Amino acid sequence: MRRMLPVITMLLLAGCGYAPPEVDAALVARAAAASPGTTQAQLEQARATYLTACTACHAVRDPSRYSAKELDDYLAIMGLRAHLDAANQESVRRYLQAARTK
Ligand code: HEC
Repeated sequence: MRRMLPVITMLLLAGCGYAPPEVDAALVARAAAASPGTTQAQLEQARATYLTACTACHAVRDPSRYSAKELDDYLAIMGLRAHLDAANQESVRRYLQAARTK
């Protein structure tokens, strides 16, 4: 049993979903490269929004599961579902696009 514990822990971690990355300098740099003017404060706000407004109906999703285009398309719909205003929706979009790892 003891030897199985690391395996079980790994399976649990893999199955227990996804944690959206903290906003660090690398993430700000990626977001600002794609959308000039993006700030750390804006992305931190967007991450908080993602963790609250976007989890009313389902768990957070790993944005790397979608292409950049798919993510934009989903966000156009999900922003409405989450009642985000245009500015918040754009911030969440920038955060999620920068959080994609592929
Ligand atoms: C009012 C409920 C609701 C809210 C709030 C909501 N969603 Fe969704 N979301 C859904 C439902 C239901 C689906 C299931 C498939 C569909 O209807 O497209 C979904 C599907 C998705 C998908 C596609 C999942 C897949 O792989 O099929 C993504 C990505 C997503 N939501 C992201 C978000 C984001 C980002 C937010 C916040 C801006 C958000 N959602 C807020 C209800 C919601």
